Amino acid sequence: MRSINSIKDLSLQEIDALVQTAEDIIARPEHYARKMAGKKLATLFYEPSTRTRLSFEAAMIELGGHVIGFSEAQSSSAAKGESIADTVKTISCYADIIAMRHPKEGAPLVASLNAGVPVINSGDGGHNHPTQTLADLLTIHREKGSFTNLRVGVCGDLKFGRTVHSLIDAMSRYDGVSFVMISPEELKVPSYAKLPLKERGIPYTQTTDLAAAMPELDILYMTRVQRERFFNEDDYVRLKDSYILTPQKLTTAKKDLIIMHPLPRVNEISVAIDEDPRACYFKQVLYGKYMRMALMMMLLEVK
Ligand code: NCD
Repeated sequence: MRSINSIKDLSLQEIDALVQTAEDIIARPEHYARKMAGKKLATLFYEPSTRTRLSFEAAMIELGGHVIGFSEAQSSSAAKGESIADTVKTISCYADIIAMRHPKEGAPLVASLNAGVPVINSGDGGHNHPTQTLADLLTIHREKGSFTNLRVGVCGDLKFGRTVHSLIDAMSRYDGVSFVMISPEELKVPSYAKLPLKERGIPYTQTTDLAAAMPELDILYMTRVQRERFFNEDDYVRLKDSYILTPQKLTTAKKDLIIMHPLPRVNEISVAIDEDPRACYFKQVLYGKYMRMALMMMLLEVK
């Protein structure tokens, strides 16, 4: 039995296999419609979510399975003081697989050590979000044709943005990748999230200047300033509009740039960009569902 806490838990071969499965699901969805018949997914979400929870649920339903769960801590026994260990021991009596989101870093790891079924980290605090990265990887693969030789700009709240930490970890495993990290001084990538770059000798630069970085980027990954992780509202208000992508700012960008965002968008990307063929954020949403289908099949060893 295997859980997924970080994108590191998947080898490059496994990521390739997930991409291939997702492509096959897209090509012939009817072949997968009964793969998970009789199986149950439990979504345990202690933090708000639209895409991640509903795409997990849609993924299980499209595979012919069922879904149980809760979408806020207050409606679970966490509100009465139950531990994560006890909750997941309980849920393991009802479900075959668990997707968990939690505001505390490491909570899904604790869950995986106590559950009798696989646990998938669906976002833990400001730490990791491996299944968003799977959605991002399928998007990059479909749009760029491969994962190699790409200059990746990540922009916004790189301190608390868990999707960025997982994306850096994943993309730094491919040849010819380099990073430009664009953020206010206060919201730079934490050192632990830069370790994969250092270990693998991946080139990266850190800057506050999006305009200067723009012309060289193959991918621009925008993120929301993570209000809920700030200690102080004044700091959030000061930093929230640090980067707002507008059509005007894209005039120096490559014609084949892809613009990504894990969503929700607050103010970081002008809606005028949604019609630009380079905007890929709603494709990420769709592809995330297929990758979650592929991942659940892999973890439950469904052929
Ligand atoms: C992200 C998350 O929850 O980390 N959303 C998502 O899962 N697609 C990004 C965010 O909340 O800003």
